[in-house]
Amino acid sequence: MIKQAIIPLAGLGTRLLPLTSVFAKELLPINGKPGIEYILDECIEAGIKEVIFIISKKKEMIKNYFYNDIFYKKIIKKKKDQRIIKEYKKILKYKKMIKFVYQNKPLGTGDAVLKTKKFIKDKFFLMLLPDDLIIKKNCSKSMISIHKRYKSSVIASMNVNRKTVSRWGIFKLNKKLDKRNYLINDVIEKPSVIVAPSNKAVIGRYILPKKIFSKLSKQKPGKGGEIHITDAIQSLIYENHKFIAHTFSGKYLDCGSMNGYIKSTLEIAKS
Ligand code: G1P
Repeated sequence: MIKQAIIPLAGLGTRLLPLTSVFAKELLPINGKPGIEYILDECIEAGIKEVIFIISKKKEMIKNYFYNDIFYKKIIKKKKDQRIIKEYKKILKYKKMIKFVYQNKPLGTGDAVLKTKKFIKDKFFLMLLPDDLIIKKNCSKSMISIHKRYKSSVIASMNVNRKTVSRWGIFKLNKKLDKRNYLINDVIEKPSVIVAPSNKAVIGRYILPKKIFSKLSKQKPGKGGEIHITDAIQSLIYENHKFIAHTFSGKYLDCGSMNGYIKSTLEIAKS
């Protein structure tokens, strides 16, 4: 069973400036609810029991959001407002399942994952990238059932416009398992259009094996000088570790860019 999830949250959020100059992007409201709560709700519904937040000193606002008990207790005592009581209960539920680890230098997603090494208990764990919201169908839940069926690692996948391949990790597909699932031969971080092996992109949901930590500890910086999780996954595939690309059926919303963030609010409001 997959019981633990990790969420890298130390990113600077430069694509959302000026909103992120003093504010954590994951706390920005999307239709009145912080983005990170959508991600947490997806985890809870998928049966996740513990979530590890990888934050930085600059993103401590995220921890404070879940640890503001004194403030809530004072307000509730004074106002006895049912809405606030309900919200506080929700925060307490989230808080109980969250652990915090620190990544103070933004060295890449792979480096963020490595910070969680000593906390991961089982053979496999889930990672969610908070910029990627998937609505209408719980992508993590579907991936966990694929993992159970094939006993392998699973990564969320979406067809993208060929012109945009250099924005994503791109899969090279191997055998088709069924309508939505393919074994993969390779994954390349942000390839040029010329070398991209397909138009199937990695979207931010991964079921990763614990083995990835030994790859990450030896991983050299890749594209843009960052340590990429994609490169560590590639090394595991080359050693015959089974990875499945799962074409999810929910709707993808990119909350990490200004355009995408605005669109996400509109999409969620009408759904
Ligand atoms: C990250 C991954 C990339 C993936 C993308 C999905 O890129 O490195 O492989 O396709 O998330 O959103 P980033 O968005 O951090 O540039």
